[in-house]
Amino acid sequence: MAMVCLSDFEAYAKKYLPKTTWDFFAAGADDGTTRDDNILAYKRIRFRPRVLRDVSVMDIRTKLLGTEISFPVGIAPTGFHQLAWPDGEKSTARAAKAMNICYIASTYSTSSLEEISAAAPGSFQWFQLYIHRNRAVSKQLVQQAEALGFQGLVLTADLPYTGKRRDDVRNGFRLPPHMSLKNLEGAFEGDDCSEYGLPPNSLDPSVTWNDIYWLQSLTHLPIIVKGILTKEDAELAVRHGVQGIIVSNHGGRQLDGGPATIDALVEVVEAVQGRVEVYLDGGIRKGSDVLKALALGAKCVFIGRPALWGLAYKGEEGLQDVLRILRDEFHLSMALTGCSSVSGIGRHLVQFSKL
Ligand code: FNR
Ligand code: LAC
Repeated sequence: MAMVCLSDFEAYAKKYLPKTTWDFFAAGADDGTTRDDNILAYKRIRFRPRVLRDVSVMDIRTKLLGTEISFPVGIAPTGFHQLAWPDGEKSTARAAKAMNICYIASTYSTSSLEEISAAAPGSFQWFQLYIHRNRAVSKQLVQQAEALGFQGLVLTADLPYTGKRRDDVRNGFRLPPHMSLKNLEGAFEGDDCSEYGLPPNSLDPSVTWNDIYWLQSLTHLPIIVKGILTKEDAELAVRHGVQGIIVSNHGGRQLDGGPATIDALVEVVEAVQGRVEVYLDGGIRKGSDVLKALALGAKCVFIGRPALWGLAYKGEEGLQDVLRILRDEFHLSMALTGCSSVSGIGRHLVQFSKL
């Protein structure tokens, strides 16, 4: 099977993964309207290509909070990588290192932070935090991440409760018994761990903007808030002293009926006015999607499901294949729109079509 584009990996994963795993990866909340719109929205944006601009020498590198990456795509935090590949997050870490990009490791990893860090020493990794009711557990994880050399703390803000994913309810989805949430092992001893291997309602739904100050008191790491979709929250994030914002709707898995992330990006970028870096995830499936997001002001984008499909195909190698395809497509889209470096990408490059 020739793997030419990211949809080929999706088709492979759908065919070969157990149905409950496929359904869990694919799930959107409720009707899946927002999940699907994340992808459709890119079709409403068209390029304004420029020609005769010497694209013989191209530079697709950029920086994330000062750290150079080889192209503006990273791995979004997703849980349970062992569901996709036996070596799980260790394979993810190695692939991200080989491609010289940023990997955001989830709180809900099936490998521990130590294992993830040791799998790819010296690589560029951020740690994604869910705040649990047991704050001591969260505090310990943040401090462990900093001590292990993770370079950023990503606070996911859009999951006070887990969204309603119908297929997971129907399938009674839970983590198979031979896998565990390594970062939380022992934290909920004796509890009924029926929700993905966690006690139901273990997350703290009382988290507010003030908890950014709590996190700042625990760590010197830059803080990036994930799950911002409005100019109001973007302004609050900046005022609370975060270093970055990820425009995200959790791949449409939380609130159904919210905007596509590429649409929300516009108002967030306008509100932020360059005071902090803005990134995006959701619906990135082609190199031209990456270029559209950068044209609308994202510094970098992150991929969630496509990374899982790459792992499901061939572990570390499969994920590298996915990243290489995205990189090469991005390179080509830049050249065909007349941009030879990332710094030349701007709002002038796109228009919204009436479609
Ligand atoms: C996620 N996402 C997620 N986000 C997060 O902050 N922590 C997590 O543990 C998870 N887990 C997770 C599992 C699975 C199976 C999926 C599909 C997603 C959300 C993820 O970071 C990201 O926002 C979306 O996946 C981006 O959309 P695409 O790229 O999947 O379209
Ligand atoms: C999800 C959780 C794990 O989206 O973030 O499935």
